[in-house]
Amino acid sequence: KPIQWFPGHMSKTRRLIKENLKKVDVVVEILDARAPESSRNPIIDELTGDKPRLVVLNKSDLADPIVTGQWMDYFASPEQHRLPVEVSSKSGQNLGSIAKGCRTLCEGAKWLSRRPVRAMIVGIPNVGKSTVINALAGRKKAAVGNKPGLTRDMQRLEVSPNLQIYDTPGILWPKFEDQAIGYKLALLGSIKDTILVLDEITTKGLEYMAVHYPDRIKDRYSLETLPDDTMELIEEIGRRRGCLMSGGVIDYEKAINLFLLDLRQGKLGRFSLETPGEERSFFSETIRE
Ligand code: G4P
Repeated sequence: KPIQWFPGHMSKTRRLIKENLKKVDVVVEILDARAPESSRNPIIDELTGDKPRLVVLNKSDLADPIVTGQWMDYFASPEQHRLPVEVSSKSGQNLGSIAKGCRTLCEGAKWLSRRPVRAMIVGIPNVGKSTVINALAGRKKAAVGNKPGLTRDMQRLEVSPNLQIYDTPGILWPKFEDQAIGYKLALLGSIKDTILVLDEITTKGLEYMAVHYPDRIKDRYSLETLPDDTMELIEEIGRRRGCLMSGGVIDYEKAINLFLLDLRQGKLGRFSLETPGEERSFFSETIRE
């Protein structure tokens, strides 16, 4: 069920997370590696204060490795006790870096030799919080759903002799202020109940891919050149993939939906939607007045 976030939910969530954070040593913030800035809620900075934080760039199997490397540099901040790791919780790749990173963040603490590090996982919906918890716990433990906030009686799961995590993650709301963020999250399939016009967002996504990863579009849809005009490009894709209506007319909607599915399923290869320190997002340009 999609969440409807409203101010009541937000303040309750904020309160519960803040309360539960007192009981842990480390905050594990899960982000989507394809759009780390758009998939993070800065409220977490306020909530965690100076508690050590592991920033997990999850779904790195889907993201552009070069761009992910840039985000790793961007998030690394020993002064702020912040350490980034990149993982793919679905395949389990580099999952060990979570327990290792949590310990690194607590180095020097007196208790470290006596008990495991306690950590809590937080993030907006769909970044992969439950997948991370399940992968770490090694069993189907977290049936998390997408309800705002979290329950009070959370269990601590033993991940290893070195790490314990709560079985329930803190679910933050996505940032709503900036429409570019909404577009990116919608493209990634993270906002499912979008009131935004998905066709137009997808068209913008196609333009983005054609500019940043032109060869992927060419390869996937067997095109020798990419037409400058987006509608023509959609038409070409439709023609190649047999998206036709009666009378041989190209079915634009079908073609654009096919592209969206390909994008989300990683059929266009690994891509990222943003880089650190961007002045202005490609997705900030208004889609249509
Ligand atoms: P959440 O708790 O933060 O809301 O996210 P959740 O774990 O439910 O993950 C959301 C979707 O992202 C799931 O896909 C999940 O499989 C996928 N996912 C999580 N981590 C990774 C990863 O590292 N790599 C890839 N490629 N995908 C990941 P879904 O389509 O909703 O479910 P399913 O069809 O995979 O079961």
